[in-house]
Amino acid sequence: MEAFNSGGPEETEIIGEKLVQKYGADRIFCLFGPLAAGKTTLVKGLARKLGVKKTIVSPSYVLLREYEGESPLFHLDLFRIQSSKEFVEAGLDEYLLEPEGIVAIEWADRIEDILPSNRVDVNLELAGKDKRVIRTRLVT
Ligand SMILES: Nc1ncnc2c1ncn2[C@@H]1O[C@H](COP(=O)(O)OP(=O)(O)OP(=O)(O)O)[C@@H](O)[C@H]1O
Ligand SMILES: [Mg+2]
Repeated sequence: MEAFNSGGPEETEIIGEKLVQKYGADRIFCLFGPLAAGKTTLVKGLARKLGVKKTIVSPSYVLLREYEGESPLFHLDLFRIQSSKEFVEAGLDEYLLEPEGIVAIEWADRIEDILPSNRVDVNLELAGKDKRVIRTRLVT
């Protein structure tokens, strides 16, 4: 377990970069936290560390976006998914296998029952206007 205090979006991006440094570029990061907690912002930091040049946009209407970097980034946003059954039916469960590249999953709680081990959980909590508490944990 590790905890970070973020004082603004840029700091959250830097925390994202640090997580790639710490956990490597072949990883599943599961992001938990309410609306505007900073999940997408943190993914921007993951992307920056991977050298992704395209701008990360919130994939809310699309479940998955793929970005090219030194390693690929697969950005999933499950806000609109109701259950792991729906997730599997959409054919997305292949992204839960040992990844080549980073898989970042917003609203990972939607599929809590099928999340694999050997992932990194990232909990983002609102702690004031621009403040966030970000807790990370390697789940083995
Ligand atoms: N410390 C901070 N870290 C991250 N974002 C912050 C911070 N302080 C303020 N913000 C603002 O909060 C918002 C976070 O938006 P972001 O899209 O990253 O959240 P999200 O968790 O992905 O939301 P959603 O649930 O809608 O996907 C942005 O407007 C950002 O500028
Ligand atoms: Mg988001």
